[in-house]
Amino acid sequence: MWTAITRRVSDFISRCELEFLPRSPIDAAKAAAQHLAYENCLRQLGFDVISLSPDPAFPDGLFVEDPAVVLDEVAVMCRMGAKSRRGEADAIAAALAPYRRREWIREPATIEGGDVMRIGKTLFCGISRRTNREGARQLAQATERFSYRVVPAAVSGCLHLKSAICPLGADAVIANRNLIDMQPFEDLSVFDVADDEPGAANVLEAAGKIIMPASFPKTRRMLEKAGFEVIALDISELQKAEAGVTCSSLIFKAEGNRPLTA
Ligand code: GLY
Repeated sequence: MWTAITRRVSDFISRCELEFLPRSPIDAAKAAAQHLAYENCLRQLGFDVISLSPDPAFPDGLFVEDPAVVLDEVAVMCRMGAKSRRGEADAIAAALAPYRRREWIREPATIEGGDVMRIGKTLFCGISRRTNREGARQLAQATERFSYRVVPAAVSGCLHLKSAICPLGADAVIANRNLIDMQPFEDLSVFDVADDEPGAANVLEAAGKIIMPASFPKTRRMLEKAGFEVIALDISELQKAEAGVTCSSLIFKAEGNRPLTA
């Protein structure tokens, strides 16, 4: 069954890490309501949502995409670039334990799941403020036995690779070309975000639909014209914490029923 691990919003989300956004007050209750709507959207699409409890020690804990890269064969547990976030991996590793063998990225590597975009057997790995070349190298080492190849891509203008580019099916992407080196993606068809919606490339493919923030209506219309079925969610409060739609879930296929411990 298609499964999504999520983690509910901490009351202390205002203390989150920020790289490219100025800090502004975040209404934790509103953020939690938007996150619940996101979880419910996944449930309505047929996902088994495993919603973990927040931990006050981790204001960014809801961004479960970053502590792990979950593939069909293995979960690669990340050593995150943001030191304040490294402890988040323990709860995610425990939640993944019934489903996947786990491999751990080690010092001096840093890597965050938001920097890893899978298309088929290729893992594009952003080299960013959070992910270094050793992180990409160790990701390749952990996954090569399963026939993955890792392709590094420079990220200069945003938090993670997937802030700037995300898959649309097997051979296309949506991208903001101004934020990353596009050379590694030259074999893919590229849909460009609207000029005045620079953050619109972070979209989540789920159950044949495209989930994206409601704040990017021009890009949404472009995708709909191209034939995609789009679900637009209001994540305005979460966006103040530099959120997109991919980072709030870890999506993978689980075999059989959910174990009683998960
Ligand atoms: N606030 C999201 C992050 O910086 O990791």
